Amino acid sequence: QTQKPLQGRTVTLTAGPTREAVDPVRYISNHSSGKMGYALAEAARDAGARVNLISGPVQIQAPEGVNLVQVNSACDMLEASLQHLPDTDIFIAAAAVADYRPDNAADQKMKKQPGQNELVLRLVQNPDIVATIARHEQRPFTVGFAAETQDVENYAISKLMRKNLDMIIANDVSRSDIGFNSDQNAVTVLWKQAGSADPATPDIGRYQPDQASKTTLARQLITQ
Ligand code: C5P
Repeated sequence: QTQKPLQGRTVTLTAGPTREAVDPVRYISNHSSGKMGYALAEAARDAGARVNLISGPVQIQAPEGVNLVQVNSACDMLEASLQHLPDTDIFIAAAAVADYRPDNAADQKMKKQPGQNELVLRLVQNPDIVATIARHEQRPFTVGFAAETQDVENYAISKLMRKNLDMIIANDVSRSDIGFNSDQNAVTVLWKQAGSADPATPDIGRYQPDQASKTTLARQLITQ
């Protein structure tokens, strides 16, 4: 029997949205479906990897045979990611993490006050999960996503550098037929070339698979 490409490796992924509590019954979140992250988890499993899928709340089933870790907030997602870091070989951040969370979520349900026509919510910045992992001393091979609406490749490359990633998967979310909630996706994969003369300005590798279903793309991305 031939050895599968990720046999003996552990892949940890983040997927889905995060939920940031406002009070015990309310939260701030986004429309991420988790489809791309779940498709990648399945593809990694099929490639022979052990898979930790750290997921925010989604409406889809986790693939069988992966270790599903359910979380709500960005802070919980970071904690779970760090917990799995020691045995992770490849970290893939596909989650749509909320950039900000309400400062001091209320312990009790907030009440509507008579005559109060405005409410100000103070938000504080969430930790950047993938950047934290990529700066860790036990850093695994770290892959991020970049959803952009313009100048997709340039923004993705600056994100690759700023977050200290090894690879970034860029997609154009200005198109409604692909990306975010869709089953289809069109991406460009960008990575730092090994052996570049100056590590501060590495040569960038580029791979652009044809537009395809998230399942097909995930298989291609994992096996490349
Ligand atoms: O900065 P931006 O949100 O565009 O970066 C997207 C990439 O960073 C994705 O891989 C996403 O999962 C990751 N990210 C993260 N933690 C955050 C924000 C983004 O891991 N707080």
